[in-house]
Amino acid sequence: MSTGDVLYEGKAKIIYKTDAPDILLAQYKDDATAFNAQKRGTITNKGRINCAIATHLFKVLEAAGVATHFIDQPAPDQMRVRTVKIIPLEVVVRNIAAGSLCQQTGLDLGRPLAQPLVDYYYKDDALGDPLLTPDRIFLLSLATPERLAQLNQLALRINQILIAFFQNCGITLVDFKLEFGITADQQLLLADEISPDTCRLWDNSEPDPDRRVMDKDRFRRDLGEVDTAYTRVMERVLGQNTSAP
Ligand code: TMP
Ligand code: ASP
Repeated sequence: MSTGDVLYEGKAKIIYKTDAPDILLAQYKDDATAFNAQKRGTITNKGRINCAIATHLFKVLEAAGVATHFIDQPAPDQMRVRTVKIIPLEVVVRNIAAGSLCQQTGLDLGRPLAQPLVDYYYKDDALGDPLLTPDRIFLLSLATPERLAQLNQLALRINQILIAFFQNCGITLVDFKLEFGITADQQLLLADEISPDTCRLWDNSEPDPDRRVMDKDRFRRDLGEVDTAYTRVMERVLGQNTSAP
């Protein structure tokens, strides 16, 4: 698909304008970054793999009644999406302790949480995406109390759908990050992507704590075989149909 002007270039995607003001084109890149872009590299075929996985997961969520920005996939590494104004919050849902939760609380890696934890981070690279509290979210006018309650409910609903979907793939959904946006006519949509870049995914058939990792932690922690792991996730995800679980 021919592309228009670049609206925005992020770490993992380039967003192009199209002839229609309410439609954007997301070009998924092979570039990988971690630790606020202090670590940089590429993952072979990541653009195509993540675009395929995200497309499939958006279809799963749409089938279950979650409104997303997804329109279609005109090329293997391209997604047409609805134009939204992104809410500058990274909404992280956690089912099992890992990553920054372990570092900041001392919880052991792999400890199942009694109930899903929803954490909000300020999407601001210059500030290093700090963890927010509800009062800080209101202070910064990032969301109203009503909007925050809506985001919380949606994130938990998406978590339920994705846990069930990944379970059918033989994968445990440890945690993941969501972003939401608002259309010109004030519709709230799930935006950005859901992929091994934005989730922690553990292979149920692999007890070893390093070998089970199928997500960007392989890149962050130099575990090797990053593209192989991403490809395996894609094969398993695309092997499940998109109708509601
Ligand atoms: P964390 O444990 O580093 O806070 O990450 C929680 C989840 O959010 C994990 O699945 C990875 C994802 N994530 C992103 O998608 N983007 C980010 O910039 C960060 C820090 C985490
Ligand atoms: N996406 C983030 C970055 O580069 C961090 C991460 O996923 O670990 O910088």
